[in-house]
Amino acid sequence: MTPIVLAITGASGAIYGVRLLQTLIAAGQTVELTISPAATEVLQHELGLKIALDHFTFEQLLPPRANWPANSPLLKYSLDSLDPSALSGRAGPGDSTAAGVVHYHNHRDYRAGIASGSFLTKGMVICPCSMGTLSGIAHGQSSNLVHRAADVHLKERRKLIVVPRETPLSSIALGNMQRLSEAGAVILPAMPGLYHEPTSLIDLVDFVVARICDQLGVPQRLTKRWSEDQ
Ligand SMILES: Cc1cc2nc3c(=O)[nH]c(=O)nc-3n(C[C@H](O)[C@H](O)[C@H](O)COP(=O)(O)O)c2cc1C
Repeated sequence: MTPIVLAITGASGAIYGVRLLQTLIAAGQTVELTISPAATEVLQHELGLKIALDHFTFEQLLPPRANWPANSPLLKYSLDSLDPSALSGRAGPGDSTAAGVVHYHNHRDYRAGIASGSFLTKGMVICPCSMGTLSGIAHGQSSNLVHRAADVHLKERRKLIVVPRETPLSSIALGNMQRLSEAGAVILPAMPGLYHEPTSLIDLVDFVVARICDQLGVPQRLTKRWSEDQ
């Protein structure tokens, strides 16, 4: 299956990236994953997840419920598990029969497939996206694999979805978003709506993850759509 690239960077809202990965895998997608060093600090601070970028394992990011410590910050998200099987029936219509696959790439590995335009993908998501990464891409820096893969998606005119998380926004950040939008990226801020009547933190997270999946064309039933069951 043609893969989707997911980059997790060091903005607040690490749960958005983790929940998106869980959803994509449960929907049977192949995910090319890369994580910035700053993201590991946020993943540790916000979710209690310890990520070793040079010795990465899938379970570090999506640990089964049995492995959560009693004081895990994950508990406040009312999730049974981060294991993709916990999303059965919500990742797509009657789906989840075939679990997806994750291929991890170190942020320094410019030899990874996703660093080249000849490696085909369905698109790339940066979730969450820090202002630093936003700037790096807007100015063509390619100073790590996240920047480089994003640059490739822009030059190949493939879908690039950027999920910035910052407030308020400086004119520098706004200018960088405009540059990326004009270059073809979709700017999809981590800015949940409230019209789906959320009752938990994960309902807010799922609003954003659902909008990303819609952009990628990945079926999901994470949240009610407007005018559904009204
Ligand atoms: C706990 C924590 C939360 C952060 N939240 C944000 C944020 O919401 N937005 C942002 O742009 N940067 C945030 N930062 C700062 C970025 O991590 C920092 O600018 C870093 O250099 C970004 O690097 P990266 O884009 O390679 O991940 C945060 C840092 C930490 C430690």
